[in-house]
Amino acid sequence: MMGKDKRILVIGSYNADLTARAKRIPGPGETVLGHGFAVTNGGKGSNQAVACAKAGAACTFIAKLGHDTFGDMAMEMYRSVGLDTSGMLFSDTEPTGAALIMVSDTTADNCILVSSGSNLSFDKDDEEKIKGYIDTSDIILFQLEITPEVNFSLMRYAHEKGKRVILNTAPAGELPDDLYPALFLVTPNEHEAALMTGIEVTDIPSADRACKALLDKGVKNVIITLGSMGAYIKNGEISCHVPAFRVEAVDTTGAGDAFNGALAAALLKGMDLPEASRFASAAAAISVTRPGAAVSSPYIEEIDKFLTEACYVC
Ligand SMILES: Nc1ncnc2c1ncn2[C@@H]1O[C@H](COP(=O)(O)OP(=O)(O)O)[C@@H](O)[C@H]1O
Ligand SMILES: [Mg+2]
Repeated sequence: MMGKDKRILVIGSYNADLTARAKRIPGPGETVLGHGFAVTNGGKGSNQAVACAKAGAACTFIAKLGHDTFGDMAMEMYRSVGLDTSGMLFSDTEPTGAALIMVSDTTADNCILVSSGSNLSFDKDDEEKIKGYIDTSDIILFQLEITPEVNFSLMRYAHEKGKRVILNTAPAGELPDDLYPALFLVTPNEHEAALMTGIEVTDIPSADRACKALLDKGVKNVIITLGSMGAYIKNGEISCHVPAFRVEAVDTTGAGDAFNGALAAALLKGMDLPEASRFASAAAAISVTRPGAAVSSPYIEEIDKFLTEACYVC
């Protein structure tokens, strides 16, 4: 088992992203010749766990993979960034999750089919195994891409054990009302916040109203991420806008994942919410200057260096 050092546990998804490009996206029944096929590591849980480890935290990641090449590819990446995978689960029947992504060269539109595979095959046995890891962790970071009943049940368990539960509410979906009081922090982006509250989030005042609506449901802290507008934090004591850093964005895929992983790492270190959000914004800003998802999240040294040199978008 783990030592006494503080740890983060990320429980979530892995997907192999299979991407190819063509002049245009094929329609039903059509075959189009394209180019640029690539297989990269994705899945929100996986991206966030990798971002968290790279941001300097002792981090364990539990996902459910298949016994296949993509499962091997994921494990290889976790080794390379120093993530603990001692609790990794494997399905005997389902393949590793995969996203089939087609991108148009002309319009940059994409078309994505996600085959969830093993990500939606968490069962009661898995739940019991994961509880053992929750017991020895301090902060538990969740998203919404794995078997919902198991996911919600683990959030409740972690809360009962006095752990800080962070839920990145992505992709957007309904949450049971009685789950909110179990959550230390939710981190929707503006679209997810709108879906959860019915309040359209377009600026700081509307972000404040949406945060208030989520606090009223019983969650202790809310951070709404607002893309290049930054992030808005609210709890019982503070309301605070953390502006984004000014960078040349080339690929914003995974900005939220870089933010959430680094945020958890900063909270584990003992930073307060505004300070941790500034650290997370720096990590996310660096990630949008690079292509890709998991590969684009920065290491702690890069984040620290960036923070000493960067300026905010005003
Ligand atoms: N163009 C950008 N320039 C600088 N920082 C960005 C940019 N886009 C996103 N970020 C940072 O990443 C965080 C998360 O991005 P956001 O788009 O809100 O999440 P998601 O990827 O979940 O949609 C933002 O709060 C911000 O700090
Ligand atoms: Mg966004």
